[in-house]
Amino acid sequence: MNRYAIILAAGQGTRMKSKLYKVLHPVCGKPMVEHVVDQLSSLSIDQTVTIVGFGAEKVQSYLEGKSDFALQKEQLGTAHAVMQAEELLQDKKGITLVICGDTPLIKTSTMEALMEEHTKLGAKATVLTDYAEDPTGYGRVIRNEDGHVERIVEQKDASEAEKSSKRNYGYILLSTIPGDLKKVKNDNAQGEYYLPDVMEILKSEGQIVAAYQTSDLEETLGVNDRVALSQAETIMRKRINEAHMRNGVTIIDPASTYIEADVQIGKDTVILPNTYIQGLSVIGEDCLIGPGTEIKACKIGNATTIKQSVAHDSEIGDEVTIGPFAHIRPASSIHNEVKIGNFVEVKKSEMGPKSKASHLSYIGDAKVGSDVNLGCGSITVNYDGKNKHLTTIEDGAFIGCNSNLIAPVTVGKGAYVAAGSTVTEDVPSEALTIARARQVNKEDYVKNLNLK
Ligand code: UD1
Ligand code: CA
Repeated sequence: MNRYAIILAAGQGTRMKSKLYKVLHPVCGKPMVEHVVDQLSSLSIDQTVTIVGFGAEKVQSYLEGKSDFALQKEQLGTAHAVMQAEELLQDKKGITLVICGDTPLIKTSTMEALMEEHTKLGAKATVLTDYAEDPTGYGRVIRNEDGHVERIVEQKDASEAEKSSKRNYGYILLSTIPGDLKKVKNDNAQGEYYLPDVMEILKSEGQIVAAYQTSDLEETLGVNDRVALSQAETIMRKRINEAHMRNGVTIIDPASTYIEADVQIGKDTVILPNTYIQGLSVIGEDCLIGPGTEIKACKIGNATTIKQSVAHDSEIGDEVTIGPFAHIRPASSIHNEVKIGNFVEVKKSEMGPKSKASHLSYIGDAKVGSDVNLGCGSITVNYDGKNKHLTTIEDGAFIGCNSNLIAPVTVGKGAYVAAGSTVTEDVPSEALTIARARQVNKEDYVKNLNLK
C-alpha cells in the first residue's frame, strides 16, 4: 500500500510571539519541522507534502529536496490545511499520515506502529493519542463506554467534563484524503475547520475510526509557545545524549552537555560539563572535549583534546591539543599533533603537523608548515586597515617570543626569528633574522640625573 505524508506548517505561531515562523524555531539546533521531516525519511513514504503559508519561502528553503509543497493562502484551520494537498495527492491510493510541523519529538517507530495499526484495523481514520496528566492546550479524545473514540474536542470548545479527559491527540492518519474533509464545519470557538472533527463525521457514517496510544509520553508534545519549546529542547537533548552514550561516548554530566541533533561522535570520546557541540560537527574516537568548550561545525580527528575553548567551522586533526582558553575561528585547518595553547587565536590559517603555538599568539591568514614553533606572544600582522595579507612560515621555522610578522611576508624553511623582532621582509631559509634595535646601556645614567 502506498504511503503519503502531509506536514502542517502554515501557521504563524502567534503564541510564540516571534518574528521567526513557528516551525522554524530550532530544537537542539534544527528547525522543528525538519526534525519531523527527518523522522519521516526513515519510513518508506512515497510522497511528502508540506503545507506552507506564513513564511512559505523560508520553510521551503529549509526543506527543499526533502518534501513537496502546497500553499495554504489563508490559515482557516487544520482540516483546511490538509485539503490544500488534494491537488497533489487526489489520484493517489494509499494511506496518508498527517503530522503537525510543531511536534518535533515524534519518532519513526511510533509513526510506523500507527500506520500498521491503521492498516490492520482497516480504519478510515486513526489518531495517535497520548496520556497527559495535564493536557492543557490540546484537543481531548472523547471515548464511549467501550473505550472507542467518539470524537476529538478542542480545549476551547470542551465542556468541563470533556476537559478532564487525560488523553490528547497528536497525529491523525487517513485512508485517503477523503472528500469527508469537505464536510468539516467551522462552527466552533475559533471559527476554524478542525481536522479532528473528521473523526466524528466518519464515525457517524459507520466507518471505522481508531486510536493508537503511544508508550512514550513525550512524543506528541506540540510546541505552541516558548515554554513548550524549552520542554522540547530538554527532552530532545536527553535523547541525543543518551544515544551518544549508548554508542560508546562518555558524557560526565548530561544535564550540562548540549549536543545538537546532527553531531557525530566516536567511541571512547569523553565530553566534560558545560560543553556545546553544534552544527554538523564530527568528532573522532578517544577525544577529550571540555569542560567549558564550544564546538560548531568542526571536523575533529581521533585522540584530540580541546578544553575551555571555542572552535568554529574548522578542521582539526588527530592528537591535537587545544586550550585552555584558545579560539579557533572559521576556515582554519589544524593538522595532526599540533599544540594550540592558552590565549591563542587562530583565524583562517593552516597549522602544519606538529607545529606549536603554546601561549598568547594571534595567527591570522597564515600558512604555517610542519614542526614550526611560534614563541609566546608571536603575532601575524595580517591587516593593514584595508586588506588582509598572508603570512607564510615554512617547515621547521622558529619564531622567537613577541615577534611581529608583518604580512605579506615569508619566513623560510628552518629560519630563526629573534625574539622581539618586527619582520617586514622575507627571511631566507636557515637564516637568523634580528629585526629590532640593538640594546644600548647608558652607564651611570640614573645616578647623573641629579633628582635630589
Ligand atoms: C492541534 C489540534 C489539537 C491537538 C494539537 C496537537 C486541531 C484543530 N487541533 O491544536 O487537537 O491536540 O494540535 O499538537 O487540529 N496549521 C496550518 N494551517 C492552519 C492551522 C494550523 O498549517 O490553518 C498548522 C500549524 O502551523 C501547526 C499545526 O497546523 O504546525 C497545528 O496547528 P496549531 O495551531 O498549533 O494547533 P493546536 O492548537 O496546537
Ligand atoms: Ca500545536
